[in-house]
Amino acid sequence: IKRITTHILQKMKADGEKISMLTAYDFSMARILDDAGIDILLVGDSASNVMAGHETTLPITLDQMIYHASSVVRAIRRAFVVVDLPFGSYQGNSKEALISTIRIMKETGAHGVKIEGGEEIIESVKRIISAGVPVMGHLGLTPQSIYKFGTYAVRATEDAEAQKLLKDALLLQEAGAFAIVLEKIPALLAKQVAEQLTIPVIGIGAGKYVDGQVLVMHDMLGINKEFKPRFLRRYLNLYDDIFNATQQYISDIKTKSFPNDQEQY
Ligand code: KIV
Ligand code: NA
Repeated sequence: IKRITTHILQKMKADGEKISMLTAYDFSMARILDDAGIDILLVGDSASNVMAGHETTLPITLDQMIYHASSVVRAIRRAFVVVDLPFGSYQGNSKEALISTIRIMKETGAHGVKIEGGEEIIESVKRIISAGVPVMGHLGLTPQSIYKFGTYAVRATEDAEAQKLLKDALLLQEAGAFAIVLEKIPALLAKQVAEQLTIPVIGIGAGKYVDGQVLVMHDMLGINKEFKPRFLRRYLNLYDDIFNATQQYISDIKTKSFPNDQEQY
């Protein structure tokens, strides 16, 4: 199997082949997604929500991200693995950002990092790339800034924020980022960004005109029952399947149908 590299991702954009990306946080799930042929696996700080049950992405620590990422990396044979720099691990200065990145790269074996923001973190992006580590940008609804935004509503609907986003995207590309995630912004703005950049632009709630799509695995599989924003397409209703399987298991125990004669020694 040929491993996905930043060069292959770049070529996919040039060839108009859409890039597929999902989040993963553990070995067993990452193995399935990688076997299925996903291009990029993101060890997202959304682990804070879907794995740990926090309301926001802010509480997850660098150590916890490293635990998730090392589990994912042990599973994959083909996908490009990107790890989120969690809140508090890079905002101090570019040296802090680099030290956090080096910990991720050394302790997990991942292939690159993702960092939220544009102009504010551009020195960190440059410094990380100078150290030889691929950086993915993340603009639009950046969840680590949720208390600044005050809402999970669509971003960059006003001209000033749209112009800043476009400028930030160009800055990230100039700094050497290999790709950018755009989260929850108007499709036509995302289209403009994808057209102006030569690096891949991967959307979540950013419409169809970008170079690839990413979803949180738990959302895409329907493990989260309550979360259903417009942009989410569910490919399974795993909540219901797991719920029903669990009730069947309980019932089989109570009725003494499990284990049967063949299921014992
Ligand atoms: O943490 C995450 O899952 C993400 C994706 C939604 C892009 O950053
Ligand atoms: Na994230």
